[in-house]
Amino acid sequence: MEFITVVFHLLLHTVGLCSGGSTSQYVRKAEPAIDIPLELFPQPSGYNAPEQVHITQGDLVGRGVIISWVTPVERHPNVVTYWEDGKQDEKHKTHSITTSYRYYNYSSGYIHHATIKKLNYDTLYFYELGKQNVTRRFSFTTPPKVGPDVPYTFGIMGDLGQTYASKQTLDHYVSNPKGQAVLMVGDLSYADHYPFHDNRRWDSWGRFIEKSAAYQPWIWTAGNHELDFAPEIEEYTPFKPYMHRYHVPYRASQSTSPLWYSIKRASAYIIVLSSYSAYGKYTPQYKWLKQELPKVNRAETPWLIVLVHSPWYNSNNYHFMEGESMRVMYEPWLVQNKVDLVLAGHVHSYERSERISNVQYNITDGLSTPIKDASAPVYITIGDGGNIEGMADSFIDPQPSYSAYREASFGHATLEIKNRTHAYYTWHRNQDSDVVAADSIWFYNRYWYPNEESS
Ligand SMILES: [Fe+2]
Repeated sequence: MEFITVVFHLLLHTVGLCSGGSTSQYVRKAEPAIDIPLELFPQPSGYNAPEQVHITQGDLVGRGVIISWVTPVERHPNVVTYWEDGKQDEKHKTHSITTSYRYYNYSSGYIHHATIKKLNYDTLYFYELGKQNVTRRFSFTTPPKVGPDVPYTFGIMGDLGQTYASKQTLDHYVSNPKGQAVLMVGDLSYADHYPFHDNRRWDSWGRFIEKSAAYQPWIWTAGNHELDFAPEIEEYTPFKPYMHRYHVPYRASQSTSPLWYSIKRASAYIIVLSSYSAYGKYTPQYKWLKQELPKVNRAETPWLIVLVHSPWYNSNNYHFMEGESMRVMYEPWLVQNKVDLVLAGHVHSYERSERISNVQYNITDGLSTPIKDASAPVYITIGDGGNIEGMADSFIDPQPSYSAYREASFGHATLEIKNRTHAYYTWHRNQDSDVVAADSIWFYNRYWYPNEESS
């Protein structure tokens, strides 16, 4: 009898009748989630060679870029030389602001951040760092002018770390020719996994991501592994290494902290939130988000996307409901404002939700089950970059009805915005070739075309 019950249960799973969503049974042959040795992240050759080069958007609309790098020995040269493609005789220079920090027994190199503004839209630029025989050249393309039907493709990664699996994720993304900018949902280097939060692992991570981050902007979100709060070694300042190394244009959106901010890029309005900063009523983040959401003009930027590290909807046993208090605070605003997507990490697995909300619940009415809601975002958990903590492969069973697709594999995603109504989303597990999408769906814009999607 027990055997029959088990078979029946398996059958239900196989045909996906459990509760509407699907749990992939894909058996992965992943690269191991163990860190690549430090010596395999060598410094570039040459005295004081600039390293750990990365860029992010440097203003509100995409005509600015922040170029960041480290010089290990001397502060100078602290300048970036840049020019437009085909205009090599019109070179410009911008000086960096330079910072450095100490963390326990570690001293950083000179960390440079150069903000360049008023670039032309949709234009290829080259830039050079260093001097003479240790000059290093990179390039980036500015986004098209902000507008409602501007196609643009974002890559999405989270919880990356620096393992062999992380490398597979990053290499897979780099070989995917579509991504034009990365939405990074937090947990970067995992340096805090080491004794005394060995900050050399922040340096090696900077070298690791350079192959992508020097050439296209990574939009940063802070995760719990950015906290580096370690009172046992008298490190009391949360986010100290992260805030020195990864600058963002937060003032452009009237934010008072780099941990929450927004940008417009092409046809998207991106709002970045901090799971690990105060978000309750009256706090700076609360006040900022409350005045920020009404600013979004969907006739200018139809796609409204929120990045946050700790997911609000997820059905994995790891970190389950850790994002709940923030969801309770902000979900009504996101539904009222018809946010299209909420991207999160933290859980080392992949999951996509249905369009659901749970804004009707209060502690007396018993309405605690999420319901289908055409105004609600889709919640994507993509903390599957492949870091040293390994895979979160224990899903809640049976799959809750709010969960549309879930799989315990490492990977990355791309979001191809086509126009104001349609965006094509694909998730790529590391074991597949670029053309294979393990999960894919056409998203319909919540403001312009709030029809029901089907995957
Ligand atoms: Fe996390």
